Formats: sequence, structure tokens, C-alpha cells
Amino acid sequence: MELFSFWSLWIIVITVGLMIGLVVLVQATRNMNTGKEDSELMGHEFDGIEEYNNPLPKWWLWLFFGTIIFGFVYILQYPLGGWKGIWGWTSINQLEEEQAAHAEIYGEIFERYAEMPVEALLNEPQALAMGGQIFENNCAICHGKNAQGASDGLYGYPNLTDNDWLYGEVVDANGNVTRTLPESIKLTLIYGIRAQEAPAEIGGYPQMAAYQEQYGEIAINQLAHYVASLSGAEHDAELAGLGESIYQNGVCAACHGKEGKGGFGIPNLTDDIWLYREADATLIENIRFTLRHGRAGVMPAWQEILGDEKIHLLTAYVYSLSQEQQP
Ligand code: HEC
Ligand code: HEC
Repeated sequence: MELFSFWSLWIIVITVGLMIGLVVLVQATRNMNTGKEDSELMGHEFDGIEEYNNPLPKWWLWLFFGTIIFGFVYILQYPLGGWKGIWGWTSINQLEEEQAAHAEIYGEIFERYAEMPVEALLNEPQALAMGGQIFENNCAICHGKNAQGASDGLYGYPNLTDNDWLYGEVVDANGNVTRTLPESIKLTLIYGIRAQEAPAEIGGYPQMAAYQEQYGEIAINQLAHYVASLSGAEHDAELAGLGESIYQNGVCAACHGKEGKGGFGIPNLTDDIWLYREADATLIENIRFTLRHGRAGVMPAWQEILGDEKIHLLTAYVYSLSQEQQP
């Protein structure tokens, strides 16, 4: 902003004008001639209280002028409109200075870890501790401090410690691993989930549509009982049987698979791990809700916010959470 542009002057004139106005106001009341001697009664009364003609107490007056002088000194240093302040302080360059100081201390460590493969970082307690810190600052708000998400009652946020992955290892038709679990975790962090158009590496984000209109309540209830039966949860066998034929002949099997085991981005329905599970409703009710209204969880993309090195450490940290539980 130019120092003498309209908005700059607008801010400066109002702020400085107000301060000058205060001085003028105090001076005016001090010098006002009431026509009475000091300590003489003014001759009026409010609710039985009478007023003397006393000058403002000196200590109060000096305190008042003191704050105004402080205000002027302060404002000389404060960026206001186009005025940069005598020392050019801004919250942005304060942040930059702090970041530079931080980079000097940690830059080298980040760089060293960035060159190590994720698997190797599992043996570096300091790298995992740094990843854990980044997780607490950025991820815990959704996935929970213990990263247990939905298993901790955090509806819609996956548990990252159970080694059950929506966006996990990718295997081709011949059983070859085309993308390892750490590679998938890193891609998830870089691009987020449904946060932007899926990049070619991801291939796309399947969406669970709403089926209320297409199927209606009766079929949705039958489908819900069938889905519950897949993981051995409590269900009505007759309803589940009817649901099975809808599932297998309709769209469900196309995405979740004939056996319900899901795929990349598509939940496995047979493992009794639920992303959308409210404690105060039954499992069947939860599934019915999903079928009526559809699902499309969103996670922000982290590339621009965190940068490569932090994402690398986070990948190792997230990966470690479930690998520790392996025998
Ligand atoms: C186009 C692919 C697609 C089709 C068709 C589809 N789903 Fe889904 N389904 C998904 C995806 C993707 C999710 C996860 C959404 C998310 O991550 O937010 C999901 C989630 C679910 C869930 C929630 C799982 C949980 O862990 O809470 C259930 C239950 C479900 N689907 C059942 C069905 C049934 C029954 C049908 C058939 C009517 C069906 N889906 C059809 C892709 C599909
Ligand atoms: C605003 C909430 C939010 C924040 C913050 C968030 N996530 Fe997520 N995350 C989600 C949601 C929602 C999903 C599941 C999306 C879906 O339904 O497909 C998810 C999914 C994931 C997955 C995929 C899990 C799987 O089973 O494949 C990983 C890994 C993950 N998050 C890690 C992180 C990390 C690390 C951070 C911190 C940088 C983070 N998340 C921050 C909401 C969030």
C-alpha cells in the first residue's frame, strides 16, 4: 500500500486523528471556565449527589497523558496503512526470521532423513519422534492424538494404527506389488483425498453414491443386513439373504467386490472395521445411513502446507504406527 494512497491515509488519519482528538478533549475540559471557584459546589444535584468544581486529579491526568505519549511512540513503530513503522517490523518477517532460525537448527537433520528410505527410518527413533510431533500439530485434530480415528469414536476418520488401509498397497492382476504401502501413504499425504482432482498416480477416487432413490427403504434394509453378515456381525438371516441378491446383481459388487473385500479407496466390508460407525446407533442403522446418503470422505492435501521433508517423516511415522503391531 502506498503511504499516501486513499486507504492508507484513511487509516492513518483516523488513528492519529483520534489520538490528537483525545489530547484536545482533555485540554478543553481542563481549561473549561465553569464560573465557579475551586472546591465550590456547582449548584446542581443528581439523585441527591452534588458536584464540586474540582480540577482533575494530577496523577490521573499524567497517567492519561502518559498513555497518549506511549501511543504515539508505539504508532511510530507500528505498520499502519502504507507506513512501515520506523523499524519495518511485520508479523510476516518475524515469522520468516523464526523459520530461518529453525531451519538452521533442524535443516541438516531434515535433509539427512529425507535421503533415507521410509523403511530405514523405522529404526531412527528421532525421525519417528519428529514425525510424531508433526502429526500432533497437523493431523491429530482429525485422526486423534493416538491416530486411532474411528476406533476412538472419531466418526469418518480412519484409524491409522490397525494396518487396515483404504489407500494401501496396490497389487496388479498377476499378484505383483505395483505400489508399496509407504508409497501409497506418501501419495495420500501429498494429494489428500478428494481434495483436488485425482492426479494420474492415484488413478481416481471412487465415490459411494446415495442409493435412497434407486433402492428405497426396504431394499436398503435388506442390503444393510447383508453387509452386516459379511463381517459376522449381528443380522437377520432372511433379510440378509434378500440383500445378497441385490448386492451381487446390482452395483455394490462392482466396487466392493463379490466377496465384499473392497479395493484401493473402497472399504473392505468383511473385516468389522468401520469408518462410519456411531456408538449410539446400531451397526445396521449406521450402514443404512451410508446407503441412503452416500459417502465421500475428504482429507486436505499436505504438499504445499508441509513440504517434501516433513511429508517424508510423517510417512515414516504413520507407517510405523501399524508396523509396530506386526508379530
Ligand atoms: C462406485 C463405487 C461404489 C459403489 C457402486 C458402492 N460403494 Fe460402498 N463405498 C464406496 C467407497 C469409495 C466408500 C468409502 C467412502 C469414503 O471413504 O468416504 C464406500 C463405503 C461404503 C460403506 C461404509 C463402510 C464403512 O467402513 O463405514 C458401506 C457399508 C458400503 N459402502 C456399502 C455399499 C453397498 C451395500 C453398495 C451397493 C448399494 C455400495 N456400497 C456401492 C464405493 C462404492
Ligand atoms: C480435516 C481432517 C483431516 C486431517 C487434518 C487429516 N486427515 Fe487424514 N484423513 C481424513 C479423512 C476424512 C480420511 C478418509 C478419507 C476417506 O473417507 O476416503 C483420511 C485418510 C487418511 C489416510 C488414509 C488411510 C487409509 O486407510 O488408507 C492417511 C494415511 C491419513 N489420512 C493421514 C493423515 C496425516 C498424516 C495427516 C496430517 C498431515 C492427516 N491425515 C490429516 C481427514 C483428515
